[in-house]
Amino acid sequence: MSIKYNADTKTFILQTDNSSYLMKISRYKNLLHLYYGRRIKDEDLDYLIRLQDRGFSPNPNEAGNDRTFSLDFLQQEFSTSGKGDYRSPGIELVNSDGSRIFSGKVSSYKIYKGKYCVKGMPSLRAVSKDKVDTLEIHLKDKVTGVEVILGYSVFEEKDIITRTARLVNNGKAPVRLERLMSATVDYRDSDYDLIYFSGRHMMERGFNRVAVENGIHSIGSTRGTSSHQYNPFAIICGKNTDEDRGDCYGYSLVYSGNFIFEAEKDQYGQLRVNMGINPAGFSFVIDEEEEFQAPELVLAFSDKGLTGLSHIYHDAFRENLCRSPYSKKQRPVLINSWEAAYFDFDEERILNIAKSSVDMGVELFVLDDGWFGKRDSDDCSLGDWTVNREKLPDGISGLSEKIHAMGLEFGLWIEPEMVSENSELFRAHPEWCLRAPGRPVTRGRAQLVLDLSREDVCEYLIETINSIVEDARIEYVKWDMNRSISDVWSGLFDKENQGETLHRYVLGLYHIMDEVILKHPEIIFCGCSGGGGRYDPAMLYYQPQIWCSDNTDAINRLKIQYGTSFAYPVNTMESHVSVCPNHQTGRTVPLNTRGIVAMDGILGYELDATKLNDEEKEECRKQVEFFKKHYSLISEGDYYRLTDPYSDRYVCAWQHVSKDKKKALVSLVITDKEGNDCQRYLKLKGLRSDTMYKVSGIKGKYSGALLMSAGIPVSCELREYESQSIVLKAVREK
Ligand code: GLA
Repeated sequence: MSIKYNADTKTFILQTDNSSYLMKISRYKNLLHLYYGRRIKDEDLDYLIRLQDRGFSPNPNEAGNDRTFSLDFLQQEFSTSGKGDYRSPGIELVNSDGSRIFSGKVSSYKIYKGKYCVKGMPSLRAVSKDKVDTLEIHLKDKVTGVEVILGYSVFEEKDIITRTARLVNNGKAPVRLERLMSATVDYRDSDYDLIYFSGRHMMERGFNRVAVENGIHSIGSTRGTSSHQYNPFAIICGKNTDEDRGDCYGYSLVYSGNFIFEAEKDQYGQLRVNMGINPAGFSFVIDEEEEFQAPELVLAFSDKGLTGLSHIYHDAFRENLCRSPYSKKQRPVLINSWEAAYFDFDEERILNIAKSSVDMGVELFVLDDGWFGKRDSDDCSLGDWTVNREKLPDGISGLSEKIHAMGLEFGLWIEPEMVSENSELFRAHPEWCLRAPGRPVTRGRAQLVLDLSREDVCEYLIETINSIVEDARIEYVKWDMNRSISDVWSGLFDKENQGETLHRYVLGLYHIMDEVILKHPEIIFCGCSGGGGRYDPAMLYYQPQIWCSDNTDAINRLKIQYGTSFAYPVNTMESHVSVCPNHQTGRTVPLNTRGIVAMDGILGYELDATKLNDEEKEECRKQVEFFKKHYSLISEGDYYRLTDPYSDRYVCAWQHVSKDKKKALVSLVITDKEGNDCQRYLKLKGLRSDTMYKVSGIKGKYSGALLMSAGIPVSCELREYESQSIVLKAVREK
């Protein structure tokens, strides 16, 4: 068992191969946090708890005259509320008497084999070879009867502890829940940096590293989706932690709606971390015997630097999260019609593009936006999922047959969560969108959001999407979501329940995805929200790949994919080669570089193939061939960031290494250039020191130790924005 309870010290000990997590029941039955970090023994950590009489730190009633025990400074697993802990809380609620107190004391606990269950939301699951044990601790408020059950599932060999919290109202009156964090972690000190990923539409997941300072550093989303602006992933790490060395803690929330992550340095220089559903605009009435489930948080610790932490998440997301069988299968190389034709196409144009792409080695054609209703621009027809026969006289099934006859598979774009005011659906059901009574609507991309907190809307969408994907031969669906949510108000709820709408929207979305995506495992679903506006683990549970960004500029993509790689495996990032000058930035970059950057993900194309000359098509064909040849190395291997595109102006490089370390692929892009340039070297990573490797483009064979400490030279002949792929193969020693 990876979980033990030591009755002598009243300590819970959770052990993974390389980390330990300890907590203790205090003499007054509060659950105190003791330790999270490098693996230690089952030791008595009482000496770390320093009790002291501190001014303005209240003492619980049970402590009597003992002024040294205060929740104001003790590390806690889940803070009480209104009882003398003034740091940002794990819970906020309003009891039936109007008080806002939750005083949770340990009432019972349970340790069992296997994983806890998270009802209605995606979560990690144990696969056959995993050793997973679970601890559930009940914290009960004796006065109200309300209980919070903390869940910990330990994935022993994966160095992961998943966390969740569930509130159960075992009292005699309803309570109003206004905040329930999935997890809190209290650190004894605050000598840490915080790393988080921020951005905007077309420039997602930028890397930020800041010192933890007094006050609360809070990131999150209030847009209804996990958002382009902040990703639901953050890292707390030591000041000296870098890619290869040092302690770091990862926080990844398996949730696609509003979230919050807080790092609070308190008055005594201690750090509290909270993560969960964003309390802004959130409130849930929990009746007697009812419960509320918080989404899962995936917690990981590594003492092997940021690369070590990334590898933990990559392996767990590939093996324990993604439900699609495609997660482990080779994805077809696709061509998408969006940047090729936008709304301006008919069947002939589409067939011509598809036909031209066959010579490039492309395997799947995706028809993007514009195929339904009267959709010739982005201001109408969302909701009317019937084919536009003027553009496509033989319908989607007719088009799909013609595409299949060329030897290509067929994919289609949909944006089911939205409705245009100029649509049949809106005219029939104006009450189906989110909008508050008596207020003019707020539009985003000229569209409104369907109210997925309503069962009738969800059932309608399940039927509609299922019939779209079943009525034609479709092997791929791009599921888009193109605006931030506003005007939150649902027609079916009383005024007391309006604060439930956005979370119920997310639950509605998961229900639809359960009934559509999980029922069609043969189809590849690609997630999208204006690119990477909903790039989160919950979406990866359903969709094996996500359109990483609407920005296809290869140079901008270096930073976007760099930031994405901290939590998410390469084989989840859809990445396309598009034309130059690039449609988003106007930059011109060689086709070779566009290919190399797109291969740092799931390679695809997004251009009018009829406009490529033979030489360009041949180059694309070679890219596809190269990608397919190295597919398993890229998508299943270990990923190493060799440079940091924020601090290294001249070269951006990364490396894939097979799990057995016999093969590696190094990719590099020249991002800036000077006259009479310096000779630069790239120090490789992840190789076996005593193994000899052949390196493409360099004569001879060299030891892993040498390649990792002296590196390989970056050719001075490469010009700005040019790039190179270098293949390494272990030499079999006789
Ligand atoms: C979003 C997507 C694009 C494209 C358009 C179509 O912006 O991210 O890739 O599908 O919608 O309207």
